[in-house]
Amino acid sequence: MPRLITHLCLVAAIGLAACGGSQSTNTTPDTPTQPSGPMLREQTSLPIGVALGVGSFEPASSIRYSPQASQLRHLAASEFSSVVAENVMKPEYIHPQEQQYHWNDGDYLVQFAQQNNMHIHGHTLVWHNALPSWMSNYSGNWESMLADHITTIVSHYSDSINSWDVVNEAFLDDGSLRSSIWSSHIPDYLAKAYTLARAADPDADLYYNDYNIEAMPKKLDAVLQMVTDFRTRNIPIDGIGFQMHIDRYWPSTAEIRQAFSRCVAMGLKVRISELDIRMNPNNTATALTPELAEAQRQRYREVITTYLSTVPAELRGGITVWGLTDALSWTPWYYKIPDWPLLFDASFQRKPAWTGMSEALQATP
Ligand code: XIL
Repeated sequence: MPRLITHLCLVAAIGLAACGGSQSTNTTPDTPTQPSGPMLREQTSLPIGVALGVGSFEPASSIRYSPQASQLRHLAASEFSSVVAENVMKPEYIHPQEQQYHWNDGDYLVQFAQQNNMHIHGHTLVWHNALPSWMSNYSGNWESMLADHITTIVSHYSDSINSWDVVNEAFLDDGSLRSSIWSSHIPDYLAKAYTLARAADPDADLYYNDYNIEAMPKKLDAVLQMVTDFRTRNIPIDGIGFQMHIDRYWPSTAEIRQAFSRCVAMGLKVRISELDIRMNPNNTATALTPELAEAQRQRYREVITTYLSTVPAELRGGITVWGLTDALSWTPWYYKIPDWPLLFDASFQRKPAWTGMSEALQATP
């Protein structure tokens, strides 16, 4: 099962429309399908976030360039209180040439968020993916380059961005350090990245972000060892982002609870940073049936309840889902299997998954 997220490559246009129409008929027309209730953002003071496309290279999901841009903006601003750029703040887009930063798309997202009173999370400064070719092939002074990259971006957004994924996916599932341009060229690059980010914006919360850490204790061991090491050296880090690209069966809520607890025991903030819950991991379904939709409601409710009951209010960094509607989810493209992993369907309607999230938020103070 393709649970290891490696070698992500961005495509100029993601084939998002392909899965869009497949789940619009999951009830009869007379059945009241639309879950009612207040907007998610009205149900909690916790930041409830969504990843948004912004750039022209992501034409289906872009809140600027999609033919549905105004609907996307309306849904995002109505239901959510936090945003993250699905792509446009990654190095490839925001720093396309050594001497050139592309602020325009990121600034658009910031302005949108500020107009709608939303938090803004920055994703991501240091990653092995989404690298511009000049960076991959760099032959100058690597430490100066890293310093310029982090300092320039974090300073540019220091008045607007509340928290950053400073480093994304630095460890492999076995807990070893991933080999990347950063590990190859800069000794102790993790500590240097966090120190630079803190210097550029002392007020932003600094996160380490990764996948599978809710399911693989050895991988989380490595992350928490990094934190312990940082603390002995006064290197700043505030929290851990659990991507949580999970599915209906995996991992168990007991495993998720255990992973969150380990961070809480160390006084770390915890974000659910990229949540999606795939309902067709074994490729046995062709549509989101009412039964699958109901199972997804329960799974969303359990996962969010696990978070809220394990992470005390002062350590909750928020919950972000990785995309607005099922038609825009990256998962069918990445896993090559149709799926419906998000809170809204292709027609912008609330799904039972939305109800599961809402039930959890309303049940837990
Ligand atoms: C994904 C985006 O959703 C896609 O649009 C893009 O093509 C590839 O990257 N972990 C991360 C995210 O940290 O940045 C990835 O986002 C999904 C996995």
